[in-house]
Amino acid sequence: MKNKTDKAEEQKTREPTVENIRDLILDAKKKAYAETDSEPEPELTSTVEWPVTCTVGPGLEGAIACESKIGYVNGSKGWLIYRGYDIFDLCAYSTFEETSYLLLHGRLPSQSELTEFTTSLRERMFIPQTQRLMLSFPIETMNPMSALRLGTNLMRQKQTYRDRDSDTEVGEILATDDDTIPMETRPAGKKNPVFEFLTGLFKRVHPASADALVGSDEIESCYNLIAGVASVAATIGRTRAGRIPLEPLPECGFAGNYLYMVTGKRPTALEERIMDISLILHADHGMNASTFASMVVASTLSDIYLAIGAGISALSGPLHGGANVEVVKMLAEIGDPSNAGNWFRDTTAAKKKIMGFGHRVYKAYDPRARILGPISALLTENDATLKKTYATAVALEAEVVSELGATKKIFPNVDFYSGIVYSAMGIPRELYTTVFAVSRVAGWCARVVEYLENNRIFRPRALYTGTFDEKYIPPNER
Ligand SMILES: CC(C)(COP(=O)(O)OP(=O)(O)OC[C@H]1O[C@@H](n2cnc3c(N)ncnc32)[C@H](O)[C@@H]1OP(=O)(O)O)[C@@H](O)C(=O)NCCC(=O)NCCS
Repeated sequence: MKNKTDKAEEQKTREPTVENIRDLILDAKKKAYAETDSEPEPELTSTVEWPVTCTVGPGLEGAIACESKIGYVNGSKGWLIYRGYDIFDLCAYSTFEETSYLLLHGRLPSQSELTEFTTSLRERMFIPQTQRLMLSFPIETMNPMSALRLGTNLMRQKQTYRDRDSDTEVGEILATDDDTIPMETRPAGKKNPVFEFLTGLFKRVHPASADALVGSDEIESCYNLIAGVASVAATIGRTRAGRIPLEPLPECGFAGNYLYMVTGKRPTALEERIMDISLILHADHGMNASTFASMVVASTLSDIYLAIGAGISALSGPLHGGANVEVVKMLAEIGDPSNAGNWFRDTTAAKKKIMGFGHRVYKAYDPRARILGPISALLTENDATLKKTYATAVALEAEVVSELGATKKIFPNVDFYSGIVYSAMGIPRELYTTVFAVSRVAGWCARVVEYLENNRIFRPRALYTGTFDEKYIPPNER
């Protein structure tokens, strides 16, 4: 039997504090490493001579699209690495600003670089003109991811088109009373957003490295996007709640400001830390659908704002980032831990997928779920409703893993526990996927910039399985 001191000690470790959260992440790391060995997959971690031979399944499963130094997912062992750093260590010790810098620049910043970058992101979170433009759209009735894409586009307008070129009159571009659309002239760098990567200078199109871009338009656009998408996402939350958008606070870091701008409440150190962790662990994940979508768009030498818009669109689907919203709806439908077994059996009998489970790459426990699961346990401890939601999630996980873990290697993914964490921080359900986007922008930008160093337009083939030799018959004869 536990004595009083043991119980008090146990109670202390169950208190949600910044220190306990760090310990919990380091414990999750130990558990993960105890369950898997530590060899990377040679076929996925060495350089190759192109063209490369690989076996491609439906949905491009197994296809190698490019080489990258940004991040590595080892699906059979449950690893996630950003630029050589383990996700558990980054979540335990880093901040979202530092992780974004790492992804973009390939190395951790010095203290002064980090301070400068943090300040720069905070300044770039001020996007009053974009916020004002957004208010002229029916944001409150739009799907938040659709609104996020719109807001990102409006930000692009401001950054790349009208406001950046102060000498450019709107009327010069296209007035509504023009009776003809003027001929397009050859796009010229800053003046034309469509060719933002193509400024006429070869080194701009093929920069030697992301570092070589510091101070240039392209990296500036990445900084604008990382900061601005957070403000746009927060504006959507505020507008939907019938409140006016907020500006960032000078004393808060990125995660704290984002949370403040969404909820309107100054976050506690614990809330800021948890948001940092959530943003860090969603920041990059190999060639996932939204990253690939961004890269495909950028590979046409379109611009980075449009590329990120494509990423937002791809992320919104329920098979990708949209799953975090579906998970909490599903847990509400199950209602109680005691219903999890029957619900699971009915759902599998109906051959329906269970949201928040399974992954194209992970065939082991997702390291991000290893972090978010215990955090949600800690955060829901003192809230009866959330505690029940968490208990329902745990009961469902037990059912799914015992049945599908062994047979199909299906385990919880990042989206299974994230919604519970966001909910505990006062973020409304419909905004969960926008939180994912706020973070993933860092990975999208880093991968787009890296790919453009040796850009080649993405252009796969489809196997034609249609007919030949059809004779054209005019409509009135069909
Ligand atoms: C993530 C996901 C889209 C990956 O899809 P995929 O790589 O194409 O995997 P498949 O759909 O081919 O699944 C392989 C097998 O596992 C099963 N499976 C995969 N995910 C499942 C889930 N969530 N629930 C139940 N069964 C699942 C499939 O039915 C299939 O079984 P079969 O071989 O008997 O037909 C898929 O696991 C899924 O839809 N998960 C739910 C949505 C989700 O949580 N998305 C967020 C991902 S981070």
